[in-house]
Amino acid sequence: MFIVLEGIDGSGTTSTSLGLARQLAEQTERRIIVTQEPTKGPIGSIIRQTLQGMIDVPKSELLHLFVADRKWHTETIIKPNLHTDAIVISDRYAYSTWCYQQLLHERSFVETLISYGRIEVPDIVFVLDAPVEICLKRKKGGEDLFERHDTLTSVRRNYISLIQGSYTLGDERIFPIDATLHPSDVIQTALSLIQVAKDKSNT
Ligand code: TYD
Repeated sequence: MFIVLEGIDGSGTTSTSLGLARQLAEQTERRIIVTQEPTKGPIGSIIRQTLQGMIDVPKSELLHLFVADRKWHTETIIKPNLHTDAIVISDRYAYSTWCYQQLLHERSFVETLISYGRIEVPDIVFVLDAPVEICLKRKKGGEDLFERHDTLTSVRRNYISLIQGSYTLGDERIFPIDATLHPSDVIQTALSLIQVAKDKSNT
């Protein structure tokens, strides 16, 4: 099973991924792998340094780097683990490219580039949604490239459009979750939705 967590900066994708993995580990014998984008691989590390302003890569090149990093991620981590029947939880995937890179590029161009990557269609995508003000407060002190009110307002609009069905990679299920809830309630909501999806695929 391949699960993806998405949302604007500060929505809690990282802590929810880890919390979800802990809860799932108590319910199943299957291995649980938590992974993320940008990855810890060679291209992911260039992206992180660029986002933090440590190296100077033109912003227009980020789209290509995110797509290349995803190809590496999918081939090196996601697919091999799914083949061993592990549950893979990814903190961000292609939907982040769709929502963030439209800030700088045309939607159709972003979609074309995403389709060049070796995409694995997730079973379930959770979009953690909360007002930008709340998310920015949680990121206090953060100075990454996208952590600005006007920027995240546009990105959130794209996530809402995603929830409404504007974009899919295949037949994945995309569920919004209210990220203003207590973190343990966010995780419980995700667990219930996974159970519903499992029950439906068994019927
Ligand atoms: P983030 O999850 O915030 O990493 P960290 O926890 O290390 O701060 O992700 C880094 C940023 O990269 C975030 O602002 C979203 C952005 N991003 C894109 O713009 N496109 C993408 O394809 C991905 C995966 C992330």
